Amino acid sequence: MPDVPTPATPRHVAIVMDGNGRWAADRGRVRTVGHRVGGTTVRAAIKFARQRNVRVLTLYAFSQENWSRPEAEIQVLMRLFARAFRQEVAELHREQVRLRFIGARTRLSAALLQTMASAEALTAANTGLEVIIAIDYGGQWDICQAAQRCVTDGLAVSPEAVTARLSTAGLPDVDLLIRTGGERRLSNFLLWQAAYAELYFTDTLWPAFDDAAFDDALQWFATRQRRFGAVPLGHAVTPQSVPARAARS
Ligand code: IPE
Ligand code: IPE
Ligand code: MG
Repeated sequence: MPDVPTPATPRHVAIVMDGNGRWAADRGRVRTVGHRVGGTTVRAAIKFARQRNVRVLTLYAFSQENWSRPEAEIQVLMRLFARAFRQEVAELHREQVRLRFIGARTRLSAALLQTMASAEALTAANTGLEVIIAIDYGGQWDICQAAQRCVTDGLAVSPEAVTARLSTAGLPDVDLLIRTGGERRLSNFLLWQAAYAELYFTDTLWPAFDDAAFDDALQWFATRQRRFGAVPLGHAVTPQSVPARAARS
């Protein structure tokens, strides 16, 4: 019988940080105010994940589909990203956080790409929490680029070969995927890596997602029984447990 343990703490938590615009609108403010406040939530969530011994925290910051937003909003977001990556990296480095970025990187500015590369280089040897920022990211893009690399490498496209060429190669699969903001969809996030993730949806908007809300998600995760297609412990079918007629047919 396969042993399918349910560890209380997820190794890899991924979050769709949704609801910034609505959080601002609820307060009569422009959407970008929500993005700014959402940035402080990111800082707190990283701290909380460290405290809870999560190994990998992947944050969806900007999807490939988000390029279809108004130019002014995109510009504000890009400025916020550049500032955050520059300002936070020293402190994250002190805390042994390893910072990495996943995404296509084809439409980001050279200056932002440079900031991202510096942050990755500075923190590359750190051994604490891994924080992966998905920016200009799409799950379909990720699978396609991995499959394309299999072809370039002269390999048959297999689950193992694709996994080893995804932008998340080397990281454990997602255990817990959280989406704030009330929608129940993946919006092209880690489609392959979340194949067996536990999905947690909350109406809480991202800027309001505090430690207590994060804790609720972790507590919910700890109650899940993960089966990975197997059968629950103690429920395996043994030759003795199969009725004689069923066993014959
Ligand atoms: C998520 O918040 C942040 C990004 C997609 C960059 P939204 O901007 O999608 O906020 P809502 O969903 O419109 O409230
Ligand atoms: C998903 O949120 C993308 C990020 C949080 C970065 P969206 O607000 O873009 O998703 P949809 O459009 O509601 O699916
Ligand atoms: Mg949204």
